[in-house]
Amino acid sequence: MKENEREITLELIRVTEAAALNASKHLGLGDKELVDQAAVDAMRGMLELVDLKGTVVIGEGEKDKAPMLYVGEQVGNWSENSPEMDIAVDPIDGTRLVANGLPNAIAVMAAAERGKLASLPTFYSQKLACGPELKGKLDINASVRENLKIAAAVLGLDVNEITVAILNRKRHEKLIDNIRKVGARIKLISDGDIAAAIATALPNSGINLYMGIGGSPEAVLAASALKAIDGEIQLKLFPTDEEKGENNDLDVEKVYLTDDLAGGDNVIFSATGVTDGDLLKGVRYSKNLVVTYTIAMRSKTRTIRKVEAFHDLAHKTIALKSLGINVKLER
Ligand code: FBP
Repeated sequence: MKENEREITLELIRVTEAAALNASKHLGLGDKELVDQAAVDAMRGMLELVDLKGTVVIGEGEKDKAPMLYVGEQVGNWSENSPEMDIAVDPIDGTRLVANGLPNAIAVMAAAERGKLASLPTFYSQKLACGPELKGKLDINASVRENLKIAAAVLGLDVNEITVAILNRKRHEKLIDNIRKVGARIKLISDGDIAAAIATALPNSGINLYMGIGGSPEAVLAASALKAIDGEIQLKLFPTDEEKGENNDLDVEKVYLTDDLAGGDNVIFSATGVTDGDLLKGVRYSKNLVVTYTIAMRSKTRTIRKVEAFHDLAHKTIALKSLGINVKLER
């Protein structure tokens, strides 16, 4: 391990803070592209200042479709002694949430040793996430009934006291119906399943399980955090018809576990709230200050940091890729 790897945690906090701050300027304006662009611009600008040789393995898409933070893009300052790391970003998980001023949007990123973050071949995956007590006890291949019964027994709760978070999508009608038949509670979320998956492993979050089909990149970011808080994510690829047509070799039976998605012993994760949510409070503005709330974790030491940062608007600058370093943070 290179000397400065520990310091990178703080650097990543700065990166997600800047993404959240810049994106929050567009809260409720109805334009999710603008929200995403603002977060990408800040993330990319701030990453240039970080002492690492980073390669984006999870980003905004393939190079030809995403001009910034594309898969394969090199980020960091690439100075001689800096560590080589895989980088995963979701500049905003919940762009629609920010555009509509709704809760639960976060700016997220993770870093791990080179080659240790998975790049999954499908846009969607089936996921099951839980906290430390349920780790190793549930099975993504078992029925909903079986998993809920086990969860209730292990947690010492009645089934009707278990809460499952699920993305509110038509594709989940049957899953929702099955959970209701067993009698567990459901928390439907409109977007943002990274925060929901992580919440399963945090005490008093009110969420015991996350189930359903959501983005594959989001699963790797959730795994990066769950690894540090001793939670678990299980995943199976869920290819679209188009993806099946393009690739006959997709193994839809393979079960990926947390370590298959975020491996090695030094995974660093940071998420900053953009709008208020289960995981974090959103960006707050007052007369001269902007306040951000970040959760950062490092799997090696399992330290979880919650950082409440007060940014003084008279002095605060961030780096934007489009405008350079020392850009004044405007409201
Ligand atoms: P974006 O912010 O990139 O739009 O993603 C939000 C999100 O809700 C993710 O959290 C989730 O994994 C994915 O979209 C689900 O995809 P879909 O909206 O297509 O069901």
